[in-house]
Amino acid sequence: MKTHYRTHMCGEITKQQLGEEVTVSGWVQRRRDLGGVIFIHLRDRTGIIQLVIDSTKQKEIFETADKVRSEYVLQVKGKVIMRDEENFNPAIATGEIELYTETITILDAAQTPPIYIDDNDKAGESIRLEYRYLDLRKFSMQEKIIKRHQTVQAVRSFLNNEGFLEIETPILTKPTPEGARDFLVPSRLQQGLFFALPQSPQLYKQILMISGFDRYYQIAKCFRDEDLRQDRQPEFTQIDMELSFVEPEDIMEINERMMISIFKQVMGYDIPYPIPRMPFAEAMERFGSDKPDVRFGMELKDITDIVRNCGFKVFSSAAEHGSVRAINAKAGNDALSRRDLDGLTDFVKQFGAKGLAWFVVEKDNVKSPVAKFLTNDEMDDILRRMEAEVGDIIFVVADKDKIVFDSLGQLRLNLAQKLNVEMKDGFEFLWVTDFPMFEYDETDGRYYAMHHPFTAPRDEDIPLLDSDPDKVRAKAYDLVVNGMELGGGSIRIHNQDLQKKIFSVMNFDDDTIQRKFGFLLEALKYGTPPHGGLAFGLDRLMMLLTGADNIREVIAFPRTQNHSCLMMKSPAAADASALEELGIRVMPKLS
Ligand code: AMO
Ligand code: AMP
Repeated sequence: MKTHYRTHMCGEITKQQLGEEVTVSGWVQRRRDLGGVIFIHLRDRTGIIQLVIDSTKQKEIFETADKVRSEYVLQVKGKVIMRDEENFNPAIATGEIELYTETITILDAAQTPPIYIDDNDKAGESIRLEYRYLDLRKFSMQEKIIKRHQTVQAVRSFLNNEGFLEIETPILTKPTPEGARDFLVPSRLQQGLFFALPQSPQLYKQILMISGFDRYYQIAKCFRDEDLRQDRQPEFTQIDMELSFVEPEDIMEINERMMISIFKQVMGYDIPYPIPRMPFAEAMERFGSDKPDVRFGMELKDITDIVRNCGFKVFSSAAEHGSVRAINAKAGNDALSRRDLDGLTDFVKQFGAKGLAWFVVEKDNVKSPVAKFLTNDEMDDILRRMEAEVGDIIFVVADKDKIVFDSLGQLRLNLAQKLNVEMKDGFEFLWVTDFPMFEYDETDGRYYAMHHPFTAPRDEDIPLLDSDPDKVRAKAYDLVVNGMELGGGSIRIHNQDLQKKIFSVMNFDDDTIQRKFGFLLEALKYGTPPHGGLAFGLDRLMMLLTGADNIREVIAFPRTQNHSCLMMKSPAAADASALEELGIRVMPKLS
């Protein structure tokens, strides 16, 4: 990276250059004045080199060096020499050498930075985000951003080799009726009309298959106006792809090889091949989740048959319209107080449970608010099914299946943390397959597509579309890693009659179908290859590859909870004239 300002990068100078004259440029990490000798640590993205300036021999340079403060930008010419052995610094790669400084130029001065440019800096997140440019100077942050670059390169090189074409799709697109909320952009030339930012390039990539490109990919920016979590941003990046003439197996196979290649290249990690598969129904039964963390057990067990006729009304009536299931928190009694148990009851209520029954297994007794309603046989059967031992706590939820799965699935994760449950090391990859096509929404009284409305049903389930939509399974798959959904996709519908049928199950009338998807139905008329695809969340992938537990750590300029950029201060008010041109009047905020 030689330029007019330098011959070498700071971190790349080794003993091989001993005796050579080099020029480096960078930021002052630290300046120490040891009475007559100044030591400066100069930093660029490759590392740190130590400069020495001796007042007795180098009066003029010493005067300049004396003015230098942290984060000044310098250009320095000097000779590479060995350090005295007692000054060796094993903490840095250039720790045995230093530069005997010959000229020093201050390229720019710096104020004292509001955060400390050091990996051990403890500054709060909002100040780090406000001064993101300073935060990004830290080696730990640079490492993540550089890894992100390397990952994208590994993806491109893998997909290019497999015959994929990288094709860009528009950012100003059309509002979609399904999925998350859209970000809207007003049109100036057609007042009153709106573009939407893409939630994903889904329809464009399907159209590209109809156009015959056969294999497409894109490192695609996507936008979803939704509430944030640890692993969500309103603006994020997908590794997006679509392939023609494929079955789910073809897509999973290519993506397995891609993941193996990325993890090997970027972090030297070997993903076991092939990646195991688990149907959605099994994931729910065993883990209460469609993205199960399979690094530990504590699996759900169905006890509906045992309590069907028991004396506890909550259980026996759930047995009729839903199920009764349980998990065993091994040795939970030592770790959880009565207060914790009450807290866990509140916890499961977030997921719709009406309560949480618990059984503390003691030596000759079972302590439980509901024990009195159960016969000894029923209790024994439950303990046996749960493989309960003294000290365990059994947690039971009785309700509709969805609520039982959600609450026990979440409780399982919560307890794993609380009880410090031992987890398998490394990354547990899992394909979850055979998702249901539809989810019924009680409030809206209609079906929604579980993945998206363009997903194909399994051939053998097509006859159920009229009679029993709940039972129709989709040709859809998700890749899950350590309980996180890394990516997902499906085979698409390539027949316009079937596509219309799916829209009608979701209660779209003909007019809506035409308005929203007329172009897709039209395109499907002209010869569509069987096709399918998938998208990974690049940001989530980077969390795995860097060990970050927060998505903001792997994005150069992320957003806060309320979608703000604290550095640029966006979103911001628009000029009155701009609003006028757009025909927009901002209403006073209703409080
Ligand atoms: P889906 O909606 O499942 O599928 O998204 C694919 C992947 O994108 C990532 N992701 C996100 N990452 C960060 N912040 C978000 N707000 C966010 N939302 C999603 C996840 C997710 O698995 N078009 C389809 C894919 C297809 O069918 O080919 C789609 O977008 O890692
Ligand atoms: P109650 O009779 O409502 O006071 O409940 C007695 C016990 O059963 C309490 O510990 C509740 O938390 C628990 N409980 C209530 N509803 C349910 C439910 N749907 N599933 C599991 N436990 C429940």
